Amino acid sequence: MKDFRHRLAVVTGGGTGMGREIALQLATAGAHVAICDVIVEHMAETAQACRAAAPDGVRISTHECDVSDEAQVLQFRDGVLEQHATDHVHLFFNNAGIAGGGGFIAGDRAEWERTFGVCWSGVYHCTRAFLPLLVAADEGVLVNTSSVNGFWATLGAAAPHTAYSAAKFAVKGFTEALMIDCQINAPHVKISLVMPGHVGTSITHNSRDILGKPAVADMTSTDLVDVRIQMKRMGLPADALSDEQLKTAIQQRMEGFRDNAPMTASAAATVILDGVREERWRILVGKDAEALDSMVREDPESAYTPEFMQRLLKQGVFNF
Ligand SMILES: NC(=O)c1ccc[n+]([C@@H]2O[C@H](COP(=O)([O-])OP(=O)(O)OC[C@H]3O[C@@H](n4cnc5c(N)ncnc54)[C@H](O)[C@@H]3O)[C@@H](O)[C@H]2O)c1
Repeated sequence: MKDFRHRLAVVTGGGTGMGREIALQLATAGAHVAICDVIVEHMAETAQACRAAAPDGVRISTHECDVSDEAQVLQFRDGVLEQHATDHVHLFFNNAGIAGGGGFIAGDRAEWERTFGVCWSGVYHCTRAFLPLLVAADEGVLVNTSSVNGFWATLGAAAPHTAYSAAKFAVKGFTEALMIDCQINAPHVKISLVMPGHVGTSITHNSRDILGKPAVADMTSTDLVDVRIQMKRMGLPADALSDEQLKTAIQQRMEGFRDNAPMTASAAATVILDGVREERWRILVGKDAEALDSMVREDPESAYTPEFMQRLLKQGVFNF
């Protein structure tokens, strides 16, 4: 799809980050846009930015929806069809996601299942609900956001990363298999798989809110136990820090993730939409994602060794 004008695009998790920037760039290009999110205030900000940037006649709609809940997804679909007075959709972005559920053995089961539910079941429910609407269009594109954690299941040796990685591997496998299904059964529907590296967004802040975790300033000593264990595994002197110093360090790390990333959310959205225009099924976002992809493919057996991490860091594409 080369031209987004007058097309209807749906973006999940459009409240902030890459989802917001995708919505904004689509609206600016003249597409009608529907977004969903669980944080209503963020969606309202995205909608306002889209309306300000879009040419006259572009429709923007917002829909409160938790993508991990199938009943809400069906309501979202019906709301989009009603508000845009249509029976089909041209572009669908499965973008919503949260980070969490690191530990399977020692972690909290509810957090694990919530993270997996948003990152995998959200993609599944939305694809079930909206793929028929892409098939009903003259041409359609489904864009599923996985991650580098969809082919490399770690963030480094200090902390496990099981729920998010399992979900992102599932998104990658499903998307590749669905692409073949579409080639056979709906060749006018194209599929793209997005695998971002580190992109500067508020995902760590948003995920804490969505998982019902306390704000960093309100964390108790008990809340900080896991952080101390993780720091010690990294060889950092956690016991030398007071609770207040540790909370400041956590806050700085979250802000650093957002503010010191090698790529902004806006630049990432441009890479994603360029990939869609070029009909690329495999969209790596960022030099870090490209480096990781080739290193894992080149030597998969060593992908989880300390030597691999050292070689990766030597590439100089990570600044976090
Ligand atoms: N930021 C990165 O470095 C990075 C790297 C790889 C992959 N990703 C993936 O990119 C996607 C976008 O993330 P982002 O970094 O822009 O983060 P973000 O937090 O800025 O955006 C995610 C959006 O999804 C929304 N959301 C969360 N749970 C939801 C639910 N159940 N239903 C509906 N909306 C929900 C959030 O409120 C938020 O607006 C996610 O799938 C994420 O896993 C991000």
